[in-house]
Amino acid sequence: MVYHWQSHNVKLSGVDDMVLLPKITEDAIVENLKRRYMDDYIFTCIGPVLVSINPFKQMPYFGEKEVEIYQGAAPYENPPHIYGLADNMYRNLLIDNENQCVIISGESGAGKTVAAKYIMSYIARISGGGTRVQHIKDVILESNPLLEAFGNAKTVRNNNSSRFGKYVEILFGSGGQPEGGRISNFLLEKSRVTMQNVGERNFHIFYQLCSGASDSMKKNFGLCQLDYYHYLSYGGNHKVEGTNDAHDFQETLRAMNVMGLTDKEQSNILQVVAGILHLGNVMFMEKGNYSEIQDQDALAFPSFLFEVVHDHLKSKLTSRRFDSKWGAQSDTIDVTLNVEQALYTRDALAKGIYARLFDYLVKRVNGAMETNVNGYGIGILDIYGFEIFERNGFEQFCINFVNEKLQQIFIELTLKAEQEEYVAENIKWTAIDYFNNKVVCDLIESKRPPGLFSVMDDVCATMHAVSEGADHDLQKKLTTASGTHQHYQSCKEGFIIHHYAGIVTYNVEGFCDRNRDVLFPDLVELMQSSSNAFLCSLFPDQINTNSKSRPTTAGSKIRTQANKLVDELMKCTPHYIRCIKPNETKRPRDWEELRVKHQVEYLGLKENIRVRRAGFAYRRPFNKFLHRYAILTKETWPCWKGDDRKGIEWIMRSVHMEKSQFQLGKTKVFVKAPESLFMLEDQRDRKYNHYARVIQKAFKKYFARRQHDRQKEEAANLMFGKKERRRYSINRNFAGDYIGLDSRPILQSLVGRREKVAFAEVVKKYDRRFKAARRDLVLTSRSIFLIGREAIKKGPEKGKAIEVMKRKLDFENISHVSLSALQDDFLILHMKEDYDSFLEMVFKTEFLLLLSKKYHNQIGRDITVRFSNSLDFRVKKEGWGGGGTRQVKFVSAGTSDMALLKPLGKVLTVVIGPGLPSNSKPILQRVVVGGRQSRVQRNNIKQELGTLKPQITPRQPGSSPSRPAPRLPSCSAPRSSIRAPPPPSEPAPPNQPTVRPGFRLPPFSGGSGNAPGQVPVLPTASVSRSKQPVKTINHQNFMQTPQAGVAG
Ligand SMILES: Nc1ncnc2c1ncn2[C@@H]1O[C@H](COP(=O)(O)OP(=O)(O)O)[C@@H](O)[C@H]1O
Ligand SMILES: [Mg+2]
Repeated sequence: MVYHWQSHNVKLSGVDDMVLLPKITEDAIVENLKRRYMDDYIFTCIGPVLVSINPFKQMPYFGEKEVEIYQGAAPYENPPHIYGLADNMYRNLLIDNENQCVIISGESGAGKTVAAKYIMSYIARISGGGTRVQHIKDVILESNPLLEAFGNAKTVRNNNSSRFGKYVEILFGSGGQPEGGRISNFLLEKSRVTMQNVGERNFHIFYQLCSGASDSMKKNFGLCQLDYYHYLSYGGNHKVEGTNDAHDFQETLRAMNVMGLTDKEQSNILQVVAGILHLGNVMFMEKGNYSEIQDQDALAFPSFLFEVVHDHLKSKLTSRRFDSKWGAQSDTIDVTLNVEQALYTRDALAKGIYARLFDYLVKRVNGAMETNVNGYGIGILDIYGFEIFERNGFEQFCINFVNEKLQQIFIELTLKAEQEEYVAENIKWTAIDYFNNKVVCDLIESKRPPGLFSVMDDVCATMHAVSEGADHDLQKKLTTASGTHQHYQSCKEGFIIHHYAGIVTYNVEGFCDRNRDVLFPDLVELMQSSSNAFLCSLFPDQINTNSKSRPTTAGSKIRTQANKLVDELMKCTPHYIRCIKPNETKRPRDWEELRVKHQVEYLGLKENIRVRRAGFAYRRPFNKFLHRYAILTKETWPCWKGDDRKGIEWIMRSVHMEKSQFQLGKTKVFVKAPESLFMLEDQRDRKYNHYARVIQKAFKKYFARRQHDRQKEEAANLMFGKKERRRYSINRNFAGDYIGLDSRPILQSLVGRREKVAFAEVVKKYDRRFKAARRDLVLTSRSIFLIGREAIKKGPEKGKAIEVMKRKLDFENISHVSLSALQDDFLILHMKEDYDSFLEMVFKTEFLLLLSKKYHNQIGRDITVRFSNSLDFRVKKEGWGGGGTRQVKFVSAGTSDMALLKPLGKVLTVVIGPGLPSNSKPILQRVVVGGRQSRVQRNNIKQELGTLKPQITPRQPGSSPSRPAPRLPSCSAPRSSIRAPPPPSEPAPPNQPTVRPGFRLPPFSGGSGNAPGQVPVLPTASVSRSKQPVKTINHQNFMQTPQAGVAG
């Protein structure tokens, strides 16, 4: 029975996999999600697709415990969780050697960015690596606060809304450790720099800098209250609930440190940020038909911070150079701008600088995690969600286009591809209907017939620098080109598109300008004149006024990027997280039914479930399936030789997979129910565990043999030059327990259960008349026990022999041990204050070795061992007789290996043939794990077995000890773990975050109006100023940003 988490004391809340819903309707899906959400389960799945609902509160299941339980677990073992998805990606990467990606989609504020961060932190936690890898992990994780500071902002829909899209790839080495990474960024909403909707803010960094700057920064950058800056004045409120900008600023600085940005570089970046703020405060007034700077002092800080000449900045904000052609002659003339044009120019400069600064940061992040390792990667796509505002401009158009593309991938890979695959593979299947949004993608991006982007590019190519009628012209052309398209409608302010996620009305105002997206050459030149090398480097543009080629438009850029992204994603094994936003209040447990239902509808969850249910849970190319499940049968391991299909059928038969549960297509195998797949996975895990144990055993054996060799050598050393050796003893492995103590509980209880037995053997003990009696000898770490047998004298069991303790010899009472110099098996244990024990034992060498070791451990010095062919031993006093000593004489004579005993009075003569010379050494086994034994080894073992047998019985007929089969020694080889060992740690960690001292501005040489190197004075820093932001632009329609902001 396969383990499933739901069968184990978990409160059931709806179904965790919506494939199991009894009725598949949108209402049933919403109801199921709601039940789970209200029970605090934010994750639900549809097969491999994870649905996540924003809880707007910290859930308790993102701790170490969860990391632990999801790591390496099968998908059905635990409730759906983002860690499960992340773990699955990571394992697929390692097992299948395939790139993985996760596409996180959902509306703004649905929880995409948080999800992306959970995935990154999970992967960082479970993947191995030393210090260098830890640095890569830090860079990946710290890139989040850094890029969020510069690329996220409060919007009406999300207090930390990503205003750029990003695709983060983590690249892994062959050991599964992150070796590097890459971030691709998409379309930063730079219009926010100069304009925000009511209730929204500019990018976080502006507020962070103003609130968190050190005193020296404040002074050098001319930082003061937020109200002072025009560019921060539109939203109406600078505070974001639950956010501490000053604190976040420190995070941003820390993140910059992790990226390896030097103090100077950080200072440069912040200087630019401050410069942009000040630039926004430059205002213009009407003079005649021209503009003039309202307050010259306002230019001081921007020119100081951008390190450009004051008058140069002034002239470039109020005039522009035009190339004019008169016949063959060309001329350049400076045209003075009106107020409207001057404001437009100022904002264009601010946006241009900021966008380039952002790209620079992404580049630096990428530089910090660059790698030449060519491994596999996990890509995480967190892109701005589908947006509908009351007024939607060019940015919304681009954002929604990218979301259309992502929906396309989802459809392509889950719905369409799935169904097409069944057809292509000849799999029996019933088709499911769904809406394919390719038609909307084509409407927007098609080249032929020209889609909306192409029409925009055409209009932009023909328009003049600032052209009032361009947007109107565009509107007409769009309608001509697409008026009859079923997803297009024209309307008063622009056009309407029926997106997969809803109907959006776009206002064409500003479309042409935003699409054209060029920074006037004048402004580029201005910035190139900066004496700050960093600022210059942001403007590497080659200005070529004669160039005939069309400049790249924002539209074509996003189109190219989106398609490139799609190509990248298509190369990976995709995973999906569908984020759902349950409400617009950002409050926990607030469920807006209609809102959720709308998302469920456009995300196509119902179709997703249908396809999933009707179809097959799992499919794999034949070879990949064989590779993954090769271990299940002997015939397929390590690889199946023969036809792939036969191999798969063989595996399926071997695991008793029901015929209805799978089909073989032309190139792929399809498995119907997830449970069947789990069964395969389960068996695969078991096999791996089994083989891990086999490997462990082999290692244990290997270590045991090594230990035997060592023991044999040590034993030989004990006897070396002192005692002749028996042929079969010298190369014998030591087993320790020759009695089988495990099955002799009485013996154990006599010795004491807690005593660890080192050696046990049946021996013969000789008394004063040299009469032998059987004893069980047990050696522990402190004593030697001699256990005999006595008949019960009384009671119902009278006459039955039971074991009794005959003698316990503690090490501290032993004076020495003596043996003969011949090959016989006799040994005397001499006691200090007591009679001695004269024993005959087959495994005397092993016993002596262990005794000498234990003795040393216990007493702290070596035991004395004497060798002589004439030994004495003291005998026990018994009644009247006894006491005194006996003598044993050893004589080498004849050829027999067996000792001949001749007792005569108080002397016993032992006659035995010669053994191996006393300087014999064992032949050591060189073990090859899993390999075959060498001939020498085999012969040794044969010899050992062959000679051991006759040794046991015929030596002393009648009185020879009965010897049970030896037990395997308890093995002390280290337990080898199934997991791969961690890779070796790496050298020197670069860039540990450090706390930096205050900033210093570099010596300053540019700018007029300020003494070199001196910080200018803030012009009339009136706080009340922005209470009524200068509304000079109100009547200049063409440059207005969409001012919606109310959620649609
Ligand atoms: N799993 C979550 N747990 C707790 N809060 C969340 C979670 N996901 C989202 N949130 C909350 O919702 C806000 C918006 O989420 P975010 O990921 O930024 O949305 P998106 O990127 O989709 O626009 C977060 O700032 C956070 O407050
Ligand atoms: Mg986001």
